[in-house]
Amino acid sequence: MARPPSITVRGLDHWFGEGEARKQALFGIDVEIEAGKLTVLVGASGSGKTTLLTLMGCLRRVQSGSIMLLGQELAGADEETLVAARRRLGFIFQAHNLHESLSAMQNVRMGLEVHGPGPMQHWQPACRQILTLLGLQDRLDYLPGNLSGGQKQRVAIARALVGNPEVVFADEPTAALDKDSALNAVTLLKRLGEERGTTIVMVTHDQKILDLADRIITIDEGRIVDGREKAG
Ligand SMILES: Nc1ncnc2c1ncn2[C@@H]1O[C@H](COP(=O)(O)OP(=O)(O)OP(=O)(O)O)[C@@H](O)[C@H]1O
Ligand SMILES: [Mg+2]
Repeated sequence: MARPPSITVRGLDHWFGEGEARKQALFGIDVEIEAGKLTVLVGASGSGKTTLLTLMGCLRRVQSGSIMLLGQELAGADEETLVAARRRLGFIFQAHNLHESLSAMQNVRMGLEVHGPGPMQHWQPACRQILTLLGLQDRLDYLPGNLSGGQKQRVAIARALVGNPEVVFADEPTAALDKDSALNAVTLLKRLGEERGTTIVMVTHDQKILDLADRIITIDEGRIVDGREKAG
C-alpha cells in the first residue's frame, strides 16, 4: 500500500438513546479505508451504514473505540479538532441540499467558505472550473429549480469537491436519480477522485455503482460481515 489508510477504525461501538431505550447500533467495527480509492458501504436498511459514515466524517462523536482519520484520533477529540478535521472533508447527501435561492456558482461557493478566506479570494475561477469539469459550464447561473435532478446532484458534487477535500463522504448520493444519471454522476466523481487522489466513501444500493467500487464493505446489523478487496 503506497499511502497509509485514510481512515482506520478499531473496536468501534455505538449506541443511540438513553436508559431503557438505549440500543446498540454498531458492534466492534474494525475497518481500514484505503487512500485514493472508492470504498462502498452496503447493507440492509437500519444496518448502521449512515451511523458509521457520520462517525468517520466527524458529524457524530465517537463513544467507544477508535477512529484515526487522516492521522488524527477522533475519540476524545475536542470540538476545535473536529472542526479542523471537517475542513479536510467533503460531504454529499441523498437530498442534494442545495440552496434554492442561490445559483449553481453560489451554491458551489458555499463549499469553499468552510476553508476560510484564502481560497475565497479566487472563488469564481475555482467554482467555474469544477462545474465545468462536471459538465455544467452552461448552467453556472441557473437556480436549482431550473436544473434537472442529475444536474442538481452534479452541483452538489462540485460543492463537495471544490475545496479539494482529502476524503469525500457520500450517503446514497444518487438515490433520487434515474439509473443513467446516477451512473454518470458517480463515474465523474470517481474520475475526479482518481485524478486528485481523493478518498471516497459511499453508501449505495445501486448495483451499477457497486461495479465502480474499488472495495465493497458489507454491514449487517451493526457488524462488518464482508470487506474483501474486489478481484482485479
Ligand atoms: N438518531 C437516532 N436515534 C435513535 N436511533 C437511531 C438514530 N439513528 C439511527 N438509529 C438506529 O441505528 C440503527 C442504524 O441506523 P442507520 O441510520 O445507521 O442505518 P442505515 O444502514 O443507514 O439505514 P438506511 O439504509 O435505511 O439509511 C437503526 O436501528 C436505527 O434505528
Ligand atoms: Mg442511512
